[in-house]
Amino acid sequence: MNSLQEWEKSLHGKIDSINRSLLEAVDCEEENLREMARYTIEAGGKRLRPILTILSHSIVSEEPYEKIMDLAIGTELVHTASLIHDDIIDAATTRRGLITLSEKYGVFNAIVVGDYLFTRAYELGSRYGPEVSKILAHGAIKLAEGQTLEFVNLGNLNMPEEVYLKIISNKTASFFSVCSEGAAIAAGSNYEVRKSLSDFAFNMGMAFQITDDILDIMGEEKSIGKTVFADIKHNAITLPIIYTLRSDERYAERLKKILKEGFVGNSKEDLRNLFVESGSIDQSFRKAKRYVMDSIDALHRTGKSPNLDTLMDLSMVVIQRLDDLF
Ligand code: IPE
Ligand code: IPE
Ligand code: MG
Ligand code: MG
Repeated sequence: MNSLQEWEKSLHGKIDSINRSLLEAVDCEEENLREMARYTIEAGGKRLRPILTILSHSIVSEEPYEKIMDLAIGTELVHTASLIHDDIIDAATTRRGLITLSEKYGVFNAIVVGDYLFTRAYELGSRYGPEVSKILAHGAIKLAEGQTLEFVNLGNLNMPEEVYLKIISNKTASFFSVCSEGAAIAAGSNYEVRKSLSDFAFNMGMAFQITDDILDIMGEEKSIGKTVFADIKHNAITLPIIYTLRSDERYAERLKKILKEGFVGNSKEDLRNLFVESGSIDQSFRKAKRYVMDSIDALHRTGKSPNLDTLMDLSMVVIQRLDDLF
């Protein structure tokens, strides 16, 4: 198994089924709202959260995956809503290979579409009872906390690594754990299984966001489907930035200057070389790998299941997106 694409083949059409259900879920009466909601959904995306929900369910339940589809769709809608709002905050122009919803239809509409998707998600999640409803809502609260903590630390060059870890645990990893734990609750699993699955997904989410932050610097717009150097441009302090600022003075001082004065006179390649030479990309990658290892350990604690391997592979493919770089 060496790529996300290859791994997707092992899902036997589940992604098509997720895509159909997503479109049904936003099939509202108001034609303009429907068109805008469909825009970001049809643009694509990896569908990691619904897949994580479905696969987590498959290791704790014998029921067919259609039983957990509403929750899976709910998780993707919360995620999509958060991206739509995130693109307004980051002033991003490209998402999933298309221009962002806020650029195409305006910020006012993008806020409303995001709100609509959040609300529709809770409606779907509520079909699994109050406990699932509560953790879905709690996941979105954490997301808001993470986004706010990131926002108040924009441009804070002294931000400690612990604060970065808190930001990404709230804005990304917590929501991954909601997907797995929600599926386990819906299947009636005991506390230990719920906790192990939730730890598995949380650690995978940490690795995933660190990978995304590395790709913001090292990735190509064509393959990641969004603007590169977006974090640097809007002053978000990510792990490769923290590690570069802590590295040899030559690199740290150059980066500080770029962060203060902007890119002027520096090509993409110059900037990438600075990060690579400082050792911060390698160091961030090693940190992401440690989270993957922790996620696999947690998964083993859930006990034996024939579907465990597919879930384990998911944890590994999130960092395999970086394979071309090393
Ligand atoms: C992007 O998430 C936001 C992060 C948490 C890094 P994804 O990379 O899962 O976005 P899509 O759904 O595939 O577009
Ligand atoms: C993730 O952070 C945002 C959310 C969890 C909503 P990013 O700002 O890194 O996400 P991208 O890179 O824009 O997809
Ligand atoms: Mg962003
Ligand atoms: Mg990013």
